[in-house]
Amino acid sequence: MDKTFSARLSELSEIINKRLPQLVDISNVLTKEVSEAAAYSLSAGGKRLRPVLMREFYKMSSGDESLKYLDIFCTIELIHTFSLIHDDLPCMDNDDFRRGKPSCHKAYPEAIALLAGDQLCTLPYEIISKSAKEGIISADVAVKLIYALSKAVGVCGMIGGQVIDMLSESREIPIETLDELQKKKTGALISAACEMGCILANAEDKCDAAREYANKLGLAFQIRDDILDVTGTFEQLGKPIGSDSQQNKSTYVSLLGLGKSEEICKELTEEAAKLLQRFENNRFLTELTWSLLSRNN
Ligand code: IPE
Ligand code: IPE
Ligand code: MG
Ligand code: MG
Ligand code: MG
Repeated sequence: MDKTFSARLSELSEIINKRLPQLVDISNVLTKEVSEAAAYSLSAGGKRLRPVLMREFYKMSSGDESLKYLDIFCTIELIHTFSLIHDDLPCMDNDDFRRGKPSCHKAYPEAIALLAGDQLCTLPYEIISKSAKEGIISADVAVKLIYALSKAVGVCGMIGGQVIDMLSESREIPIETLDELQKKKTGALISAACEMGCILANAEDKCDAAREYANKLGLAFQIRDDILDVTGTFEQLGKPIGSDSQQNKSTYVSLLGLGKSEEICKELTEEAAKLLQRFENNRFLTELTWSLLSRNN
């Protein structure tokens, strides 16, 4: 990883980190706790991969390096954080730590954590529609962004993936089902991030190429997540390790073994990086793509 790349990535992540909790409304005393809980999970860190992807696809498709759409880039991280708050709940993965801190439902009452997730699930649509109302983006772009995002979150996307994940507990599923599960659970939001960057740039002709890249990256990303659940440490990951096997989840590692999973992850990364050659100004994202192959958190 060259210094310029990591310095640029940290700089961008810092800007996103600062902005995220500011997006949550804490003005009402009566609803303060739920907003604080949402801000707590947003402030806990995380790699910020999805907003960075949206930004990079916007940048590569438009040539604009500015962060004038920062709030829109952040919308995908609001959704992602909502998915993590719910994913950790006792009725789902029952994990007590996230991003190195007690999970939202451990720091706040469980019902508040649930509602904090709900709050982060609707806020993106408010931000996107408000941006159109204020003339920051066109109504046409707003509709396309909302469609891409809501579809990726819904039952054909992340939520559907989480359902299949739950149904797959304590039973061995065919690899095709696992592929579908991961494509929805993790791939859908990653794909939406890339696609939304193209939509913001008014470059819908680039959406197919963005999706193709995202499908490879999303799968590689989840396979690495499964690998780290076995080989990682709590200190590195900031979340419990062994969570998948404890709940008898079918993962790439449980179905194919560590060696094969690592091999597929590398192949997918290689293919993803190659697909970026269709885009100009792709150096940063190519480095990011490769860096995810050896990520430890
Ligand atoms: C974790 O996502 C859940 C998956 C979809 C694999 P990340 O690994 O992006 O989590 P953060 O945002 O960095 O905490
Ligand atoms: C979670 O997958 C994916 C979503 C939150 C949609 P995991 O359950 O594998 O994520 P971690 O390992 O808890 O981060
Ligand atoms: Mg889960
Ligand atoms: Mg989990
Ligand atoms: Mg996992």
